[in-house]
Amino acid sequence: MKSTFLATANIALVKYWGKRDERLNLPTNGSISATMDEQLKTVTTVAFSEKLKEDEAWLDGKKAEGKELQRISEHLDLLRHPAKVSWKAKVVSENAFPAAAGFASSASGYAALTLAAAKALGLKLDTAQLSMMARRGSGSACRSLYGGFVEWQRGEKHDGSDSFALQLAPASHWKEFRNVIATVKKERKKVSSRQGMQRTVRTSRLFLKRLDEVPKTLQEVKETIREKDGAKLFAAVMRDSNNMHACMLDSRPPIIYLNDTSRTVMESVEALNDAAGEIAAGYSFDAGPNAHVFTEERHAEAVRKMLAEIEGVEGVQVCRLGEGPRELKKHLF
Ligand code: PMV
Repeated sequence: MKSTFLATANIALVKYWGKRDERLNLPTNGSISATMDEQLKTVTTVAFSEKLKEDEAWLDGKKAEGKELQRISEHLDLLRHPAKVSWKAKVVSENAFPAAAGFASSASGYAALTLAAAKALGLKLDTAQLSMMARRGSGSACRSLYGGFVEWQRGEKHDGSDSFALQLAPASHWKEFRNVIATVKKERKKVSSRQGMQRTVRTSRLFLKRLDEVPKTLQEVKETIREKDGAKLFAAVMRDSNNMHACMLDSRPPIIYLNDTSRTVMESVEALNDAAGEIAAGYSFDAGPNAHVFTEERHAEAVRKMLAEIEGVEGVQVCRLGEGPRELKKHLF
């Protein structure tokens, strides 16, 4: 009745931004991500018990309440349903992300929660089914079910039964691949990705153009991963991130996640590439100002140094590809 799983964050190379079904978290387009190593991990223990009257959850030592607890409870319901049980659960979850980094831990969080709850309930689900379950908690979580490079297929069906993630290549495929992460000081309260996506889908005309482009980008990115062609991949990644942020700006009212520090990172990466005479690195930003600069081992130290010198950058860390989630024998309670 008790199980513990570790899962790590993933960062999209081709972004998911837009839902065609808000309840089921069905995306308007497919996406591709890189799963990160255990520097960006969440460990979650779930225990079901007949004795508990309500679900309870402790996230990084803080008791979850209100909407936060409701979201976790609803996710547990998705797993209780096929297990045909009504037992309540105690959930304890710890993030090992760098302090105050402000990373979205929802992907690793919902991946670990799904895996631990399914195991604790003795559910026999394959990885694609688990990925679909994780998707319901947080869209991007469906990609954290695998290590290495991962594709979340958009799917066509209304019930979401063909919208799940699959591994494109394991971490061992491209050992030199790096994500140099710059944590950037935040100035404003952020619009949640859920709200932001809704606003873009409803109000941006540019977004329609994005939807025409994404299938081509997915194809191109898959090829560059297969060929381990850094220059082409980093160029495509920068274009896709900029395209998503352009759609955000085209929304009404505009959504702005990038700040001056993010823009300095963009310029610095462009300058580094000019000086190198090749596309040695490519930046990407999610729903916040933190920068993910993808590169290869031979350029990682130069990228790290460059980012560390930028005003407004609070911390830099060099991540590798991760192997994906795993079960832990040691429980958190
Ligand atoms: O699944 P969510 O709500 O965490 O949305 C993720 C959205 C982005 O991080 C901006 C893009 C992505 O594909 O991860």
